[in-house]
Amino acid sequence: MGGAVLPLVIASVGVLLLFQILLRLRRGASVQGAVVVITGASSGLGRECARVFHAAGARLVLCGRDAARLQEVVQELGGNSADGRRQTFAPSTVVFDLARVDSVAKAAEEILKCYGHVDVLINNAGISYRGNILDTHMSVQRDVMETNYFGPISLTQALLPSMVQRRRGHIVVISSVQGKIAIPYRSAYAASKHATQAYFDCLRAEMGHLGIPVTVISPGYIRTNMSVNAVTGDGSTYGVVDKTTASGWDPRVVARAVLKAVRLKSKDVVLAGPQPTVAIYLRTLWPALFFKLMASRACKEQRRKDE
Ligand SMILES: NC(=O)c1ccc[n+]([C@@H]2O[C@H](COP(=O)([O-])OP(=O)(O)OC[C@H]3O[C@@H](n4cnc5c(N)ncnc54)[C@H](OP(=O)(O)O)[C@@H]3O)[C@@H](O)[C@H]2O)c1
Repeated sequence: MGGAVLPLVIASVGVLLLFQILLRLRRGASVQGAVVVITGASSGLGRECARVFHAAGARLVLCGRDAARLQEVVQELGGNSADGRRQTFAPSTVVFDLARVDSVAKAAEEILKCYGHVDVLINNAGISYRGNILDTHMSVQRDVMETNYFGPISLTQALLPSMVQRRRGHIVVISSVQGKIAIPYRSAYAASKHATQAYFDCLRAEMGHLGIPVTVISPGYIRTNMSVNAVTGDGSTYGVVDKTTASGWDPRVVARAVLKAVRLKSKDVVLAGPQPTVAIYLRTLWPALFFKLMASRACKEQRRKDE
């Protein structure tokens, strides 16, 4: 009996490894010629997604508030071209402010005019926040919610009817590890990303029978200007490159993972190292310990500020 256990364990591990290798090798559907809309394409992760999807042959519609910065991205990517391997397309741009919900419906019309339909919507634009709840103006809590939650859901709802009509389309949202766990001094951001996770989980369920996949991507820290652009409790810009952000994942790696998730029509993807991943499990399996760790983190951060 004992002699049969070792070969069984080895065989099980072998099957598991093989399964993992096969999962990694899966490439999924091509995005060649697909119409892909990327919000927040002027910088950081959105800009890298633009590079990766452009190189994969997607027809891009790049969105942001700053027309000049979007044009820089367009220039960098270049016009239509075809080599032996792949055809690439000059991107289009649509300029609008996601935080002004009244402008989103008009922007959705402009987006649809570019190619007549949308195959993939990547809700990437977002803003971060640094501050303690006691000193944070309610207007800041609302503003972060407008950009990170109401903006993306308004754009999604404006583009969905055309996807439903065609029975084709794919909705992607860039959430955050902070959409799954809340860490101190990030209330507005974590709340907006938790709301995002909940909304898109509901949408996934509701779109299932219509064949429209919904992908929520939750990265940990990424090396972008996110902390520099963050708002503080009084609405001013934070303007600091946080250590955590500076040592975060390379945005090119995250952008390639976004492409893979689109190709595989993944439902929920966490892109983070072991520490945040353990924290996500701890929040569900051992909440008392998680809360203790977060309280101690808050104390440490407060002491650092007081020094
Ligand atoms: N960096 C991280 O550590 C990290 C970690 C997890 C998740 N994320 C998520 O990744 C996404 C991309 O962030 P990033 O790191 O690339 O930050 P980023 O470099 O600051 O880029 C943010 C993008 O969002 C756009 N944007 C901001 N407010 C907007 C508004 N009101 N209307 C339209 N566009 C707006 C900006 O465009 P304009 O300013 O040109 O309009 C910019 O292109 C965000 O959803 C963020 O929450 C980031």
